[in-house]
Amino acid sequence: MTFRFGPLSIDAVEYASQGNAILGIRDSGKTYTATGLAEQVFDAGIPFFAFDPIGVWRWLRVPGAGRGYPVVVAGGKAGDLPLSVDGTAELVRQAMAGGVSLIFDLFDITLSKSDWRKIVTVAVRTMLHENQAHGLRHVFIEEAAEFVPQKVLDGVVYAEIEKLARMGGNARLGYTLINQRSQEVSKAILELCENVFLHRQRGKNALENMDKWLQVAEAAERKKIISSLPELPQGQCWAWLGGDKPLPPTLVKVPTKNSLHPDRRVMRGDVVAAKAAPVDVADFIARMRGQLSQPATPATTPKRKEPEVTGEEADRLRTENAELKRRLAALEGAPAAPSQAASTAAPVSLEGTFDNERLYQAIKERLVKEAPGILKVLTIRPELEVKVERRTVQADGSSLKGRIAQLIAEGFFNDGKTQSAARSELKRRGSDPNSGNLWREITALQKDGFLTKESGDAYRAVEGMKVNIV
Ligand SMILES: Nc1ncnc2c1ncn2[C@@H]1O[C@H](COP(=O)(O)OP(=O)(O)O)[C@@H](O)[C@H]1O
Ligand SMILES: [Mg+2]
Repeated sequence: MTFRFGPLSIDAVEYASQGNAILGIRDSGKTYTATGLAEQVFDAGIPFFAFDPIGVWRWLRVPGAGRGYPVVVAGGKAGDLPLSVDGTAELVRQAMAGGVSLIFDLFDITLSKSDWRKIVTVAVRTMLHENQAHGLRHVFIEEAAEFVPQKVLDGVVYAEIEKLARMGGNARLGYTLINQRSQEVSKAILELCENVFLHRQRGKNALENMDKWLQVAEAAERKKIISSLPELPQGQCWAWLGGDKPLPPTLVKVPTKNSLHPDRRVMRGDVVAAKAAPVDVADFIARMRGQLSQPATPATTPKRKEPEVTGEEADRLRTENAELKRRLAALEGAPAAPSQAASTAAPVSLEGTFDNERLYQAIKERLVKEAPGILKVLTIRPELEVKVERRTVQADGSSLKGRIAQLIAEGFFNDGKTQSAARSELKRRGSDPNSGNLWREITALQKDGFLTKESGDAYRAVEGMKVNIV
């Protein structure tokens, strides 16, 4: 099967089994090109893995100009499955066995860069050892210089990707590296790439480096390419296809992809991304969850010490439990309200296996619909939903407000803490907020009734405020 790439025709199997590089400055269209190629690879029946430190690939699920794709997302802001170093090998195994395309969404508050490298190491190692029997698969690596930089910092992850580049063919693996500047990515590995897609490139170093490279490779029209690179519009690139029958570099307008490509505003959450719902992959996820012999729990999730439960709390939990059971019974499809007859939503069946994922999704959907007074801290699962009577605030788990809300949920403010104590704690967790911003968010949370200001400038979490871990 071949696919069109502007004037070029690319054989899907050939592309998927080769080494490829997509290079260009920020916003030049690299990710668009890469995800578009991933769609073509998928359409040719070839599954893929994508390592995505920027949290963009998950949008492949959402229809854009065409359909969305049933890919499974591990980790990130909206992962179907949790992502951790410990769970990676099993995740890779199950995806390979099931022919599932899986995105490692590394843009995840619980993962450090060192975790990223460990995850990529374990994943690539597992693929190299075990993929052969499962057939051709492609691996996309965004921000490749994090893993295979020209100046090697972490020899372990470098060695795994080098093996993928040199010997991936034996395990029926091909790969695509995506990066802003060619000079930042290991030359030794870039030189192994058969196909290169050059997007807009600026800067003396980058252009000189590119020029040398084209020179060595005796690329036709070298001068024309170099002089056009700084002004290439978004979505255009020089496609330089090598392989057995090398073609001269060709200027290509990258074809429109099917799924939605998020722009900056969508990424910031300023606008609703799409009218169409994302593709449902519940079956995949339920199966994978079932098959994961050891549940993948985030290794770096901060451990929370459970305080002793008092009789009063136990009673409250019992009441909540009864309420949840009642809601579950309603979700089972009991004809509680006459309007149910008109509903087209499939009832959640509790017959056979107890399907946690579907139940979780069903309960979540219903709560979001029916309980508008919810402060939602969007973070990786377990999600934290803080319910207040007065108002609705939406905070993102990676925003400052979201991080403070997490501190509240963890009980940090229970005995009263000053702003500077909060700042030290946030700093300890890897983000040092500017004190002006911190003051603004804490004051806003005070105004909204989550915190009270006590003597000694300490802020205390409001008693009786409900924190429901869903
Ligand atoms: N082939 C294309 N067709 C239409 N729009 C594109 C295309 N390539 C890129 N764009 C636009 O350019 C923006 C930046 O592209 P993106 O791939 O995210 O850049 P990069 O990964 O290089 O930072 C996208 O939001 C999209 O709107
Ligand atoms: Mg990008």
